[in-house]
Amino acid sequence: MEGLELNPSFWRGRKVFLTGHTGFKGSWLSLWLQSLGAELTGFALAPPTQPSLFEEASVNNDMTSIIADIREPQAIQAAMQKAQPEVVIHMAAQPLVRYSYQAPIETYATNVMGTIHLLEAVRAVGSVKAVVNVTTDKCYENREWVWGYRETDPMGGFDPYSSSKGCSELLSAAYRSSFFNPHFYSDHGVALGTARAGNVIGGGDWAQDRLIPDIIRALSQRETVHIRNPQSIRPWQHVLEPIRGYLHLAEKLVTEGPRFAEAWNFGPNDSDTRTVGWICDRLCSGWGEGARWKSDEGQHPHEAGHLKLDISKARSLLEWEPALDLDRALNLVLDWNRLRNKGEDVRTITLDQINHYQQLTDRN
Ligand SMILES: NC(=O)c1ccc[n+]([C@@H]2O[C@H](COP(=O)([O-])OP(=O)(O)OC[C@H]3O[C@@H](n4cnc5c(N)ncnc54)[C@H](O)[C@@H]3O)[C@@H](O)[C@H]2O)c1
Repeated sequence: MEGLELNPSFWRGRKVFLTGHTGFKGSWLSLWLQSLGAELTGFALAPPTQPSLFEEASVNNDMTSIIADIREPQAIQAAMQKAQPEVVIHMAAQPLVRYSYQAPIETYATNVMGTIHLLEAVRAVGSVKAVVNVTTDKCYENREWVWGYRETDPMGGFDPYSSSKGCSELLSAAYRSSFFNPHFYSDHGVALGTARAGNVIGGGDWAQDRLIPDIIRALSQRETVHIRNPQSIRPWQHVLEPIRGYLHLAEKLVTEGPRFAEAWNFGPNDSDTRTVGWICDRLCSGWGEGARWKSDEGQHPHEAGHLKLDISKARSLLEWEPALDLDRALNLVLDWNRLRNKGEDVRTITLDQINHYQQLTDRN
């Protein structure tokens, strides 16, 4: 698959600073970077769930792991000064829509001020060449229409989480204009990009109020799955897909600088933008053992109904595109959970899936 592969020699020995490494996506990315031979420093609070992929896969074995709070500017400054990274990937966040209704101050403090603290640390350290700020498909002003959002569409957000990520995009654009301006790249040497991914699925996600973890939890306990909004449409994708996009973007930001210093969507193909009910059907039939789900008719806080990303830009300019269709992505999730339930080593299961995926996307 031409254009899809990573360049392992780029990552070998490269100093990378990753925020949010104790989380679901951060654990997958940390293991991938470790397997590529990067010199990795992670900065995050303790794992947000119990169990956690970070602990079960012993993610901190082959990296420097700093457990600290991004709401503390001195903490992130000190960690960055010590690490002297070239590449920064920012994923630390309060990432849950429903929780953001209960904790709006925490959500904005982490997702907005936390990002500013990170960018100030980048300005202070002087070693950084590339920053990838990971936001979300929910950063767009949602019009509940059938078309995919493009990178040029307005930012928005009904709930505090979505709005905080729209803010994170806006402040990244302001920092890019004010301090990391592509026109003055030779003065500062920093290229800042942002990445908007879809709803990711994969083994090792135990977050509350997220579809796949809710389903796997219920199926593992042989309970009927209760689903809030079966008609909602989301751009589903395996966690390794956007992560490959972040790595690809970071590589371009280092090697080609300001040309790629902008916003990028990393979503699935259009055909994989499916309803929640469709995902439930597939997971229940793939699980077997009489697994069932039913609609939960209660009152729920507002969540977007129809959400789709247009990935034409990443496809044509970054030569990034999805490598897995949704059925294969769901099979990877089921396999991962079956092997874990059989007692196999979680680090090995996860690294095997990364290896398999990387082979799929390699040129030969
Ligand atoms: N999971 C998805 O479907 C999805 C979709 C689009 C975007 N994203 C984004 O990807 C990123 C990672 O999401 P995830 O699903 O892995 O979430 P997660 O909850 O599993 O991980 C969040 C990480 O952020 C860290 N963190 C939270 N508050 C912090 C603080 N104050 N200081 C330092 N670290 C803090 C946590 O310790 C953890 O390491 C987030 O930015 C999220 O918004 C996720």
